[in-house]
Amino acid sequence: MSIEARNISRHFGAFTALDDINLKIGTGELVSLLGPSGSGKTTLLRIIAGLERSDTGSVLFNGEDATLLPVRERQVGFVFQHYALFRHMSVFKNIAFGLNVRSERPSKAAIRDKVRSLLSLVQLEGLEERYPNQLSGGQRQRVALARALAIDPKVLLLDEPFGALDARVRHELRRWLRQIHQSLHITTLFVTHDQDEALEVADRVVVMNQARIEQIGSPEEIYDHPRTPFVHEFLGKSNTLSVKVDSGGASVGAIALPPPAAGGVHSLTAYVRPHQIGLSRVPNGTPVLPVKVTHIHAAGSSARVDLIRIDNGEELAAEISREDFEQLALTVGEEAFARFKKIQVYPGG
Ligand SMILES: Nc1ncnc2c1ncn2[C@@H]1O[C@H](COP(=O)(O)OP(=O)(O)OP(=O)(O)O)[C@@H](O)[C@H]1O
Ligand SMILES: [Mg+2]
Repeated sequence: MSIEARNISRHFGAFTALDDINLKIGTGELVSLLGPSGSGKTTLLRIIAGLERSDTGSVLFNGEDATLLPVRERQVGFVFQHYALFRHMSVFKNIAFGLNVRSERPSKAAIRDKVRSLLSLVQLEGLEERYPNQLSGGQRQRVALARALAIDPKVLLLDEPFGALDARVRHELRRWLRQIHQSLHITTLFVTHDQDEALEVADRVVVMNQARIEQIGSPEEIYDHPRTPFVHEFLGKSNTLSVKVDSGGASVGAIALPPPAAGGVHSLTAYVRPHQIGLSRVPNGTPVLPVKVTHIHAAGSSARVDLIRIDNGEELAAEISREDFEQLALTVGEEAFARFKKIQVYPGG
């Protein structure tokens, strides 16, 4: 089932939680909703689920207006942020919950078969008699997902389902979620404020900031072509460099930049990711930026070299391969030359 949010706005008193949100999710897509705390992610999810009303706009399922459809008729399964399991119910009863409260309740045998198949899907066979406090955090989240899947939802809404778990477990569960999605193809909207999680799991990523959508695109599009400084900074480490703009064009030190698309822009800021910086000991003919090494962190899969620009003292960090680093043999206090494999320029400064 496809989902569409059309011109959705929501205010809480004078505060705007959602400001004219437009979003289409195709049938079977896995889309992640990424944004800082307070940007409106949960509010949008609750409106799509029917748990919250919007002030304006509509929600469409398969192209049909569902704005006024009650929650139980939306065929939506959800795992919400901080939405705990029923503590007094076993794993079995938790998963069977949505089936037991149905107006047309399936037979006992049908419920048992369903719960068993879900337990196998979420890899928790044999744990059906346990209670939530006898499970690990990762196991609990898998039970919550099984409970959401029990009603055969057409849409799955996941609000930071792995938020409270440690990094390694999160990693496993991400891969596992991707696998489940590949086998069930349920249209899924997955909220996270972890950029790695969003980029790794989703077919498309929606980046929200302050009640609005900043950008929608594939993980590669969002990462390689961030439309705004906010998206650039939110999606990974980035360096900001001040840009000189005059009649001769725009430049960072001696490195000329492509002219800004919009004419009449007087101030620009350049953004460069650490891995897009190359370092050398000699200028090599091409325009380069003279820098000085201030700190070296080489105990990882790559080496991070902290630098300052010699022309204006701005700080930047480069990330280079261990091999390049060993070949360069740079030490703190030495001067070097930086070049940019890719640099992105935005108006403002
Ligand atoms: N019922 C409410 N009454 C008043 N303000 C609310 C209400 N619900 C949400 N808000 C406000 O709306 C904004 C968006 O909240 P929302 O829960 O959607 O953010 P979020 O993106 O999910 O953040 P987080 O990552 O912290 O979960 C927040 O500033 C929040 O304080
Ligand atoms: Mg939230």
